[in-house]
Amino acid sequence: MRDASPPGRPKGEHRKAEPAGSCVPAGFAGRVVRWQRTHGRNELPWQNTRDPYRVWLSEIMLQQTQVAAVLGYYERFLARFPDVAALAAAPLDDVLALWSGLGYYSRARHLHRCAQEVVQRFGGAFPRTAPELQSLPGIGASTAAAISSFCFGERAAILDGNVKRVLTRVLGFGEDLSFAANERTLWEHARALLPARELAENMPRYTQGLMDLGATVCLPRNPSCLLCPVQPQCAAAREGRPEAYPVKTRKLRRSAESLWLLHARSREGAVWLQKRPTPGVWAGLYCLPVFASRAALEQALPPSARRQLQEVEPFVHVLTHKDLHLHPVQAMVPAGWDAGEGGWFGAGEWPALGLPAPVRKFLERT
Ligand code: ADE
Ligand code: SF4
Repeated sequence: MRDASPPGRPKGEHRKAEPAGSCVPAGFAGRVVRWQRTHGRNELPWQNTRDPYRVWLSEIMLQQTQVAAVLGYYERFLARFPDVAALAAAPLDDVLALWSGLGYYSRARHLHRCAQEVVQRFGGAFPRTAPELQSLPGIGASTAAAISSFCFGERAAILDGNVKRVLTRVLGFGEDLSFAANERTLWEHARALLPARELAENMPRYTQGLMDLGATVCLPRNPSCLLCPVQPQCAAAREGRPEAYPVKTRKLRRSAESLWLLHARSREGAVWLQKRPTPGVWAGLYCLPVFASRAALEQALPPSARRQLQEVEPFVHVLTHKDLHLHPVQAMVPAGWDAGEGGWFGAGEWPALGLPAPVRKFLERT
């Protein structure tokens, strides 16, 4: 990375602003807004609307998922649930089935509950301020601000992972974000940088501009500082070490777990599926019965079925906090077998259910 800015900044380019002691670049918001107009993303299907239902749906889907993966799901969701009342009235199973494959299913359960609360608490109209939006299930501080700034021009700050990267670099903010106090300070900086004028016009563009900078220019590795609209006022670029930010010392500790999946089939080709308990991995989805060991899996079967078990090549499924090593075991079980919880689903039935993506893939190739 090369620093293209001159060492001495002209007077007046920077001004003091709250929080006390920090140097907030003047004109930062204006640069982001102007850049967004010509260089940002302006044709995504959830843009060019101020319908909070559409914006909210897109923001929830985009929380842990890339734009490219969201596009198809977004269209299907809107076709099936055109407004918040339709979503609130739908059975949770239908919502989970349509979410199937997007991952992080707690988002889908919160989405459904949120729709119901919007109907019950707010008469079917999303509230217009970030604090009220944040009182709804699944909507955190940053998502609330994204919705209220996009739809209502509220002067509210977003601070998702991408934006943390952009702002810590611009400000040269080297405090450790593992500590909540430092994260709170960065929130204050984020608020101090917001546009001050013509909010109805500028806030949506500013919010989108920060997201676009983080997604297309200020990348984690090799950011494109030479193409960046805020490069002249970026501390990290001036220091020549953008990748030194953000600082986060406490890394997510990953673990691994082995699970055995019972793939019980009937002579007619039906498969036994159980609904996963809440809370827990894949809560609310239909799944092959899950066991902590091969022995526990065998215990669940009638003795006649235990003799002809077939282990299938195990595969790994990566979750946020752990790697799941999944060991499918196939069994033919006699007609009339009933494992209690769950039920038989024929080849024409299970594809329409909400299934975890790895389980769906396994069933499709088996
Ligand atoms: N990620 C989160 N919100 C987004 C948006 N509005 N556009 C593109 N990517 C996003
Ligand atoms: Fe990120 Fe470089 Fe732009 Fe600074 S100049 S915000 S480091 S892309």
